Amino acid sequence: MTLPDKMNALVQLHDGYAATQTGPNIADLTPFVAHQTTAVPQPGDGQALIKVHMAAVNPSDIHFIKGEYGQPRRKDVPAGFEGVGEVVAGDTPLLGQRVSFFASASGAWAEYAMTDTATLVPCRPDLAEVDAAGQLVNPLTAIAMFDIVKESGADSFVLNAAGSQLGKLLIALGRDHGIKPIAVVRRSAQAANLRALGAAEVIVTGELDPLGTAKTVFETFKPLILLDAVGDQFTSDLFFAMPANARWINYGKLSTEAPALTQLGQMIFQHKQIEGFWLTRWMKEVDPARIPQAFAEIQERFVTGAWKTDVAGIVPLSEAITKLPEVLAMPDGKAFIDPRA
Ligand SMILES: NC(=O)c1ccc[n+]([C@@H]2O[C@H](COP(=O)([O-])OP(=O)(O)OC[C@H]3O[C@@H](n4cnc5c(N)ncnc54)[C@H](OP(=O)(O)O)[C@@H]3O)[C@@H](O)[C@H]2O)c1
Repeated sequence: MTLPDKMNALVQLHDGYAATQTGPNIADLTPFVAHQTTAVPQPGDGQALIKVHMAAVNPSDIHFIKGEYGQPRRKDVPAGFEGVGEVVAGDTPLLGQRVSFFASASGAWAEYAMTDTATLVPCRPDLAEVDAAGQLVNPLTAIAMFDIVKESGADSFVLNAAGSQLGKLLIALGRDHGIKPIAVVRRSAQAANLRALGAAEVIVTGELDPLGTAKTVFETFKPLILLDAVGDQFTSDLFFAMPANARWINYGKLSTEAPALTQLGQMIFQHKQIEGFWLTRWMKEVDPARIPQAFAEIQERFVTGAWKTDVAGIVPLSEAITKLPEVLAMPDGKAFIDPRA
């Protein structure tokens, strides 16, 4: 296959980290990325070039381009952590195959992305393009964190931002494994859908006395794991209302609030713990055999309908600068970029 020298991409405008933490909302992409023509990356040893079919847009991508993620930005390099496409160059037996990938060397918001061959995930032919484009960041995190839930031995767990894509994947896992999800959301409109999906209880933070409701629910269900993507004061209050030995596992910072830890004595006298989860670290530390096993499970779950990707919109790469913020602001669905459109 003859490859072009140039491609279209959403290229980062900054290096390194920013001094601010403004969260994953974004009304204007232009301070952070520009739609540009740039060189198609050339794969070196252990790397593969992928012709991108579709890229996912996750909160981590927005934190990243704003300079508030766990990795430094790289000026003039395309953004975008994950996507699906065809391997078109590189020293790999997956040449010509459709793969999902983490774009470790050159980002997925581009016509071509580059990554380490070790991160390529071959896709089943019956896996839909949107499921394949977003099968790494959220589904793998759901599997990894649900392993923690299972290990806790409790027959329920608590999760906030429960109406997020990742929240819905976790609720479905709880439903299918008989471990009752206690879902926390800020909009009552999400409650019925989450109950239908498998949430045993839904606590709506905007309603009357949500903490009182949570205390009653915790007395019945006795959850030991709080999976937290919000990190606000209510999350802190929820944690201190949980039983002894509870673990607060923070994996996202959707709120810009700085919560107060009002009952630190519980860490001493009730053996409660606060910790963080990051997929990047989990992948380095987990038994390597767990990862292909997890991807087989992820693809099976999407193909059989046990999981579903809710799509807010698919934006052509050429129009992403103007259209992406609008799609990202839509409730209850994911945004994608199509570089072929
Ligand atoms: N640590 C890791 O390794 C890792 C891996 C994957 C994902 N994550 C994190 O997981 C989280 C969910 O990702 P996603 O892709 O599933 O998200 P998503 O589908 O884009 O949904 C975002 C959700 O967050 C809710 N939300 C936003 N700001 C909020 C706030 N201030 N308080 C309460 N809820 C708020 C929204 O609720 P509304 O509908 O009410 O607006 C929406 O349901 C993100 O924080 C992401 O960074 C972390």
